[in-house]
Amino acid sequence: MRPNRLSNFKWLNRTELFAVFAFCFVWGQASAADFDASKLPPAPPGPIDFARDIKPLLDGHCLKCHSDEKPKSHFRLTSREAALRGGEHGVDIFPGRSERSPLLFYVAGLVEDLAMPPAGRGVPLTSQEVGRLRAWIDQGVVWGPTTNVAVGELIASPIVGWTTVHGDALKFRELYLRNEGWDGGLEHFEAETQPSPDTQISTTGHVLRDDYLVTLNASKDDLGFAHFGWDQFRKYYDDLGGYNPLVTPSPLELNRGLFLDIGRAHAEFGLTLPRWPRFVLGYEDQYREGTESTLQWGPVGDGTLTNNVYPALKTISERVHILKFDADYELAGMEISDNFRGEWYRLSTRELNGSGYTLGAPAATAAAFTTANESQSYFAGANTFRLEKQFTDWFFGAGGYLYSKLNASGSADVENANLPALNMPSIFFPGYPGFQSERIELERESHVFSLSTMVGPWHGLSLTLGTQNEWTRQTGLTTANVSLALPFGMFSTDPENLYSDLDRRSFSQEAGLRFTSLPFTTLYADARLQEDDFGQYQDQTGGITPFLQKSDAKSALQDLRFGFNTSPWQRVSLSGQFRRYDNETDYAYPLKAVGPPNEGYPAFFKSRDLLSNQAEAKLALQLTAWLKTSLSYQWLANQYHTATDPVTADPFTGVPGISPGGQLLAGTYDAHMGSLNSTLTPWRRLFLSTTVSYQNARTITSGNNLPSVVPYAGNIYSALVNGNYTLDSKTTLLVGYSLSRGDFNQANSGAGLPLGIAYWQQTIQAGLKRQVGKNATLGLQYQFYHYQEPSAGGFDNFTAHTIFATLLCRFP
Ligand code: HEC
Repeated sequence: MRPNRLSNFKWLNRTELFAVFAFCFVWGQASAADFDASKLPPAPPGPIDFARDIKPLLDGHCLKCHSDEKPKSHFRLTSREAALRGGEHGVDIFPGRSERSPLLFYVAGLVEDLAMPPAGRGVPLTSQEVGRLRAWIDQGVVWGPTTNVAVGELIASPIVGWTTVHGDALKFRELYLRNEGWDGGLEHFEAETQPSPDTQISTTGHVLRDDYLVTLNASKDDLGFAHFGWDQFRKYYDDLGGYNPLVTPSPLELNRGLFLDIGRAHAEFGLTLPRWPRFVLGYEDQYREGTESTLQWGPVGDGTLTNNVYPALKTISERVHILKFDADYELAGMEISDNFRGEWYRLSTRELNGSGYTLGAPAATAAAFTTANESQSYFAGANTFRLEKQFTDWFFGAGGYLYSKLNASGSADVENANLPALNMPSIFFPGYPGFQSERIELERESHVFSLSTMVGPWHGLSLTLGTQNEWTRQTGLTTANVSLALPFGMFSTDPENLYSDLDRRSFSQEAGLRFTSLPFTTLYADARLQEDDFGQYQDQTGGITPFLQKSDAKSALQDLRFGFNTSPWQRVSLSGQFRRYDNETDYAYPLKAVGPPNEGYPAFFKSRDLLSNQAEAKLALQLTAWLKTSLSYQWLANQYHTATDPVTADPFTGVPGISPGGQLLAGTYDAHMGSLNSTLTPWRRLFLSTTVSYQNARTITSGNNLPSVVPYAGNIYSALVNGNYTLDSKTTLLVGYSLSRGDFNQANSGAGLPLGIAYWQQTIQAGLKRQVGKNATLGLQYQFYHYQEPSAGGFDNFTAHTIFATLLCRFP
């Protein structure tokens, strides 16, 4: 029985356009007299690093509203200059004077009506995060790494280097996205000018061999902005086609040096006039071009033993043009927004797979070839309309509607040549030289409604509620010509028609509780319940295997989680969370089969269930001013249950029974992950950071009583050590080591195919940075790479050396 070919096409599970409406949470915050510094959390000891401690916080909590594109209250958190300039409420940050800086009181929730992020509109900062911002302000509001440009300055950092690889150079490229030999270009450039106080123009990027990024931004306050950008990088493939120690010569490798170029160009124009809606018009062009390596299923052997895996390749040309239009407006305290997105997509792929090799013999001899040319294109449009309003201090509401529509078409041409090697035609099983389809069509339409609300806090308790409901309808139509090789050297070509439709209804409810009245502690619990109803109809006429099936499915999902975070002492914080996820789907088949053997597919399954339990805990400790440590642990246990119809032996064809049917524990997956991170600054000149992590995973299936199917289990260990030492005011030394080790290969090659990877991957680096003039810093770096993969018979092993020199220059 052949799988339904329509389901081979990727748009059925392509990225969904459905925007997920955000549900909003809030922690209750005591309101207190303005600017009472004793209520601010204390600043932690030790130096603050902008990139590590502050930037993620601003990105995650603030930039949504305080970035270049029409910042709220005209306050931008995008550069030091902009942040210090303040907004409509005046200056918000006084460097070195945290106790006088209003920003801190806003983020600590100490100013009524000016909590940042505003109540219900984002996740409030924890007291540690506020403490970190406080230390940052006290330490002078350092912005960005040392390479950050000042207005009117240009930074350029030319780089030149050389890499040499001994062993499998293709594996080196795949792992490190880097080619052997010379590399060079501009590692980084950045410039910013400010022609007038309210106008900024900036550019940044890098230009290296096979790796480019260029951006250009211009904005004028209260008028608008323009952003342009282009980036592209090259992804390399090793093409070793599996390794079996029992087959000689082994392994099969194409040695083609395959790669894909992956890139994106974009432009956005925004209008940000005061008291006008904000409009943004954007265009994006994303692409992937090149050839990737694939593994194919088919016989390859040495005359005695046969492997059923071999390396092949696929040429890909993919492009999507995206047009975006967003409008936001604030009217009487109500946020109104409309977002449109249109995607024009096309993909064409070409595969040429040759199998049936006898190793060592000339390639052309016994090989069977499959060529597959496929193409698809679609237009997908989606529009989201959303309203939200903070009605009172304790009541927030939001609602939205999304409409999306997809129109897709495609074609396929598959040919199998030199068939006998692949599939011997016989009386019972005709051979199958291929099929052609000029017409594959798909249409989909969805409506999604959502509502959410937040009430509270009352005495530290707040409640969020939300619901999202979706209706989707999809229809597909294919006409194809199927070629058949019949016994006695005869051929036939039969037209085939395939019609399918799919209806989906989905209802989801969410509820969340936050409690913040305990000292230094937040408790929370969230629940999501979702029910989905699917109706699917497939009808295939013509060809050798007519097929008709109507199947229905109902799924119920429960996702519950609860947790806490607490920081009873300034130097200690602890958080924990437990999550339970259960998704059960029941199948029914109101209509199936058009006479044996054309039973509907996959009418066999009656139900499936995934039950997942997860727990995690994290402890952060600052033992002394020079030692910070955090420990985390995660545990995950999944259970998969299935129930099936029995498949009994067929007395006419002699096909044996496969399964008695019924409920079955089909598999389990268990994993533990632990990690330890510490940073050490024993002297002012020395900085050391270490991360060690360990992961253990085990998958067991109900077939594990067969010697060829063993439990799939293993460990991954990794360690990362970085240090730098300031030799004198102009010179810094850097060293680093990283190790990753995995041992997932399973000892079953006697009974089945060798399975799983075992590898050691290590890098050592050493470098030096020295200021060589008022405006120039020289960097030298050496890297050593070592890779071993015993599970590939050592054919992937390599060692490599890289040296690089950079010269960071500032102009003027
Ligand atoms: C959901 C949007 C939103 C988010 C997220 C947000 N803010 Fe605000 N912010 C506002 C609005 C709206 C105002 C103006 C409030 C008013 O004037 O009543 C404002 C005002 C401010 C001000 C006063 C500016 C002035 O006029 O001087 C500061 C400072 C500030 N925010 C800091 C922050 C920080 C820091 C964060 C992140 C922790 C943040 N905001 C996150 C919407 C936001």
